Amino acid sequence: YEEADGDVVENTEAAKRVKIGFYFGTWWFLNVIFNIYNKKVLNAFPYPWFTSTLSLAAGSAIMLVSWASKVAEPPNLDVEFWKALFPVALAHTIGHVAATVSMSKVAVSFTHIIKSGEPAFSVLVSRFILGETFPTSVYLSLLPIIGGCGLAALTELNFNMTGFMGAMISNLAFVFRNIFSKRGMKGKSVSGMNYYACLSILSLLILTPFAIAVEGPKMWAAGWQNAVTEIGPHFIWWVAAQSIFYHLYNQVSYMSLDEISPLTFSIGNTMKRISVIVSSIIIFHTPVQPINALGAAIAIFGTFLYSQSKQ
Ligand code: 3PG
Repeated sequence: YEEADGDVVENTEAAKRVKIGFYFGTWWFLNVIFNIYNKKVLNAFPYPWFTSTLSLAAGSAIMLVSWASKVAEPPNLDVEFWKALFPVALAHTIGHVAATVSMSKVAVSFTHIIKSGEPAFSVLVSRFILGETFPTSVYLSLLPIIGGCGLAALTELNFNMTGFMGAMISNLAFVFRNIFSKRGMKGKSVSGMNYYACLSILSLLILTPFAIAVEGPKMWAAGWQNAVTEIGPHFIWWVAAQSIFYHLYNQVSYMSLDEISPLTFSIGNTMKRISVIVSSIIIFHTPVQPINALGAAIAIFGTFLYSQSKQ
């Protein structure tokens, strides 16, 4: 920059773009794989509380082993850190389990269409709970988001109320997760990777007793038996894939948060949903009516307008 060397400036910018592009590409790819295996598992084994717990358990195990073997530098944390992390982990747990319950009831594409409405929840919570105000253009961008999600929901061929509400609850929970997460990260020098690792561990501790209470080992054992009879012994690999890819995509997304602004992050998240919606419709042969697709397109376009107005 200082040396007025045009080449250096360009190279630095280009390298940064390549790095962010690499993060985004990896994040979306891992997310698509997670969504596919997660749905394959849920179709054969409809126990979303258990599969949600396994995803967090896989992530916790991967990170504990990485810390113990020094593959990753273990963080140095105090009680204050865990206290600040608790509300984040609670919101993460609710958002995760609610999204998984949703996907166990409706098409993956439908869950993600509703989840593309997350910015609308973010504005409403910030406005009515935190008292923040936004420019009029931000409020106007909510109209296509809400209208598009509404149209997609009304014309969804396999609409299910639990599936719809799960995605809505997940939106609300993740807005709170992001708000608490911003507060909790302030002044702390924990890397994105370690922050997400701690989030997984705490969420696992919160979720496990509820998963046992809602579903429980008896149901899991019987369901597992059925799934293995129906799918074959390789069913276990589907479960492993959904659990490991869940951790990996979240880890990469938190690592990219270290490098980019929350706004760029939310644009990346919306683009991620487009790749999940399109690939899951192709893979699962999800029936889509033109009016339904139009609703999804309007909602996603609204999210882009929202990012533009926030900028
Ligand atoms: C989950 O199971 O936690 C959700 O599928 C995650 O949703 P996201 O796409 O917002 O990460």
